[in-house]
Amino acid sequence: MYLTSIKHLVKEEQYQKTKSIVEKFGEPGGTGELLQEKLLEKSINTHNWVYDYWLDDMYLNQRLALPVNSNPAMVFPKQDFRDHKDSLKFAAHLITGVLEYKKHIDTRALPVDFSRGQLAGTPLCMKQYYRLFNTYRLPGLKRDTLVIHETGSTEQEHIIVACKNQFFVMDLVVKEKPLREMDILSQLEKIVKMAENTEERQPPFGLLTSDGRTEWAQARDVLIKDSVNRESLAVIEKCLCVVCLDDPSGMEVGDTSRALLMLHGGGHEKMGANRWYDKPMQFVVGEDGVCGTVCEHSPFEGIVLVACTEYLMKFMTGSPSKIGRATSVSELPAPRRLLWKTTPHIQGLLKASAERLQRLVRDLDMDVHKFEVYGKEFIKKQKMSPDAYIQVSLQLAFYRCNGRLVSTYESASIRRFHEGRVDNIRSATPETLAFVKAMTDEKTSLSDSEKIKRLWDAINAQTNSTIAAITGMGIDNHLLGLREISQEIHMEMPEIFTDETYVASNQFILSTSQVPTTVEMFCCYGPVVPNGYGCCYNPQADHLLFSVTSFHGSTETSSAVFIKALDEGLVEMRDLCKTSNNFVETTPKYIYIYRNISLSIYSHLSCKH
Ligand code: COA
Repeated sequence: MYLTSIKHLVKEEQYQKTKSIVEKFGEPGGTGELLQEKLLEKSINTHNWVYDYWLDDMYLNQRLALPVNSNPAMVFPKQDFRDHKDSLKFAAHLITGVLEYKKHIDTRALPVDFSRGQLAGTPLCMKQYYRLFNTYRLPGLKRDTLVIHETGSTEQEHIIVACKNQFFVMDLVVKEKPLREMDILSQLEKIVKMAENTEERQPPFGLLTSDGRTEWAQARDVLIKDSVNRESLAVIEKCLCVVCLDDPSGMEVGDTSRALLMLHGGGHEKMGANRWYDKPMQFVVGEDGVCGTVCEHSPFEGIVLVACTEYLMKFMTGSPSKIGRATSVSELPAPRRLLWKTTPHIQGLLKASAERLQRLVRDLDMDVHKFEVYGKEFIKKQKMSPDAYIQVSLQLAFYRCNGRLVSTYESASIRRFHEGRVDNIRSATPETLAFVKAMTDEKTSLSDSEKIKRLWDAINAQTNSTIAAITGMGIDNHLLGLREISQEIHMEMPEIFTDETYVASNQFILSTSQVPTTVEMFCCYGPVVPNGYGCCYNPQADHLLFSVTSFHGSTETSSAVFIKALDEGLVEMRDLCKTSNNFVETTPKYIYIYRNISLSIYSHLSCKH
C-alpha cells in the first residue's frame, strides 16, 4: 500500500530505489518481520500500541510554535454585543455552560458517541472528552509533556481570565459554594476594572507561550528560578480553562479576520498576548463580537471539540441567562491578578517572542470561503460519498495550481479503537491523478464518459482508503509503529525510514480535515509545512465551507488562488456529474466487497481492543 501511495508522486528512478528498499525490509526473516513481532508483543501489553508513538510524533516532539502551526480554532458566529457589559454577560453565560458540561464529564454522564457516515453505528472511544479540561501541554527542551490532572480534582476549581494581557485567577468555588452565573459576571466586571489599572499592569507573559517550544521551555526555566513566577505558572497550569476577554481588534469583522484572530490573535499589537497557548481549552470573547475557542491539540481531536462547543452554543441559546433573575450579588473576594517577576533578561525574551509571533502573523495567508453552488445533498444524490468527492476536488484544485499531486493528509478518526486518535487517508491516489489529468491536461481529448469513469474510480479509491483507515488498516500509524519500535530496541534506523521517499511522503503539503458542525460555526488551522496548505472543510446540506491557509513566504502557494481553483473545479465536477451520471454504470460493487472484507477484519481486531 505504501508503494502504491507514492509511485505516482516520485520520479521513476527514485521509486525503483524505494521499491527495492521496501522489498528488502519485507523479506521473510528480515527487519520488517522482526519489528512486526516486537510491535505485536507491545500490542499485547498496551491498550493501544500506537498512541504514545503517535502523540510524541504528532505533537509533543514538535518544536514549532503552537499558534498557527498546531493549535486549531473554532470560530463562533459573530455576536452583536450592545456594549461592553453585554460581552461580559456572554462570557459569564459561556463559563456557566462550561461548568455544566464539565459536570457531565466528571460524572461520566456524556452519552457514548457512535460513528456516522461510512460504517455508521459503531460505539466510539470517549477518552478524549475526559481530557478537555484537565490537561496542560508543558513545554520541554526536546519534548513537551501532556500533563493530566485527575478528573474533578479540587486543585482544578479555578479558571484563568486574560484581559489586557493580564492574567487573573477566578475561583469557581468560594466557601464551598460554587459561583452562580451572576457571581461570575460580577467577578468578570472586577477583573476588567483591575486590568484597566495601568499602575499594576504586568508584562505580557502570555507571549512566551506563543513561541517555539524549545524557546518557551528555555524561557520557562529562567522564569521558575523566581518563586513569584513559579506560583503564577503553577496556577495557570492547573486551571480548568482560559477565558480571554479581548478588546476590539480594529479589524473589519469578516469570516477570515475572525479566524485569524482565533489562530494568532493578530500578534502582540492586537490580542496575541492575551492568550495562554499551552492550555487546551481557551475561550475568546471579544468586545467586538469576535468569539471562539483556541485549542492546544494534543489531548483531543476537532470532532470532540465540536461536540463540546456545540453543547455550549446550544446551552447559550437554549437556556436563558440567569443574571436577570438574581436577587443580590454575594460578597466575593476579588479575583487575583497573577504577578510576574521580570529581569532585563526576561524582558529580552518577551521581546524576542513578540517578534517571532509577529513574523507568524505576517506570514499567514488565510481565506475562509463559502461555496454556495451546492452542498453535500447534491453529492449524495450522485450516490457518491461527499467526503471522498470533496477530497477529489481538493486534489483537482492543487493540480490546477501546481501541475502535480503531492503527499496529502486527511485525518481519519480511529476512535473505534480504545484510545484511538487518527490515522491518515492518503488522498493523492493514482486514480485521482488520472481524474485530475482528465479535467486539465487531457480535457479536450477525452470524452465525458471517460471523465466520469475516472471520477468514479477516484471516488471509489478514496472511499476504500477511508474505510481502511477508519478500521485500523491505514499505513501511516503502522509505519510509525515499526519505525519507533526499531528505536526502542536500539536498532540502527532501518533504511525504509531514512529513504528520501519516506521523508517526502511525510511532508504533507496538503493537510486536510473534515470538521462538520450542526450549528453555525467553523474550524480552521494552519499549514503543517512552509510550502503547504491547511484545508479544513465543513460540508453542509446546501453549501461547503472551506478554511484555507498557507504562508505568504512560499512562492508556491496562495490561498486565494487555491480557493479560485477549488471553486472552478467543484462547478466542473457538478457539470460532469449532471451530464454523465445518468448513462454510466454507477454501482460501485467493489466498495461493498471491500467494505465486507474490512468489516470482518475489523470485527476480528475489535474483539481484542
Ligand atoms: N451515496 C449516498 N450517500 C453517501 C454515500 C454514497 N455513496 N457515501 C456516503 N454517504 C452519506 C453518508 O451516509 C453520510 O450521511 P449522513 O450525512 O446522513 O450521516 C454522509 O454521506 C457523509 O459520509 P461521507 O462523506 O462518506 O463521510 P463520513 O461522514 O464517513 O466521513 C471521514 C469520513 C474520514 C471524514 C470520517 O470517517 C472521519 O474520520 N472523521 C473524523 C475526521 C477528524 O478527525 N477530523 C478532525 C481532525 S482534528
